[in-house]
Amino acid sequence: MILIEPSLLSADVLRLGEQAREAEDAKADWLQIDVSDGQFAPNITFGPDLVRALRKAVKLKLDAHLMISEPEHLLTRFADAGADRIIIHEEACANFYRVLQSIKALKVEAGVALNPETPLEAIEKVLDLVDLVQVMTVTPGFGGQRFITSQLDKVKRLRQLLAEHDLKVPIAVDGGIHVDTAPLAVAAGATVLVAGSSIFNKTGSVAENMAALRASIAKSQAEA
Ligand code: DX5
Repeated sequence: MILIEPSLLSADVLRLGEQAREAEDAKADWLQIDVSDGQFAPNITFGPDLVRALRKAVKLKLDAHLMISEPEHLLTRFADAGADRIIIHEEACANFYRVLQSIKALKVEAGVALNPETPLEAIEKVLDLVDLVQVMTVTPGFGGQRFITSQLDKVKRLRQLLAEHDLKVPIAVDGGIHVDTAPLAVAAGATVLVAGSSIFNKTGSVAENMAALRASIAKSQAEA
């Protein structure tokens, strides 16, 4: 079961609610809200108020991807706003084990994201605590970047590591996912595909674009 999670960062900012509903109507599994502070990642995007507004607009599960420094200061704000999962970056926390525990204490799912340069070993000690591992296949901050193919090997090794620990943690890939790269990520072991510009664009509707992504995955799985 491969889940598709649209990233609202590439959506039309003047129609975020509408675009979120289009994703829901197109049977998206989750919706990712990319939160960037201009410090941890070189962009300033969304905050808890958008999560709260989306919580009223859609029933979709909401993922708050915190590309911010010291995320521990804002966990409660995002949980209270209605996030179903909070993803923090290993690189952004002095003690990310404690931050993950704080997320779990807020009764929301906890995810950890890894920048392309960060080795898997950095999160091995928390694999039994997390509900998701997100392998960044672009550098954080912007949609529309090129997929970093070298991260496929990290996904493969992570899948093996989880199997060795007998852990069934979903593996997400985030960045540069489209009809050509989605099958590669799935073949490497990813089960959650976060996609922005390949879903929210002017060349097709959200429903058409998501159908194209699903078709590319189904085709590669049928051929595998
Ligand atoms: C980037 C975000 C991604 C991005 C994906 O920092 O975390 O979710 O929006 O957009 P695409 O799919 O266009 O690379």
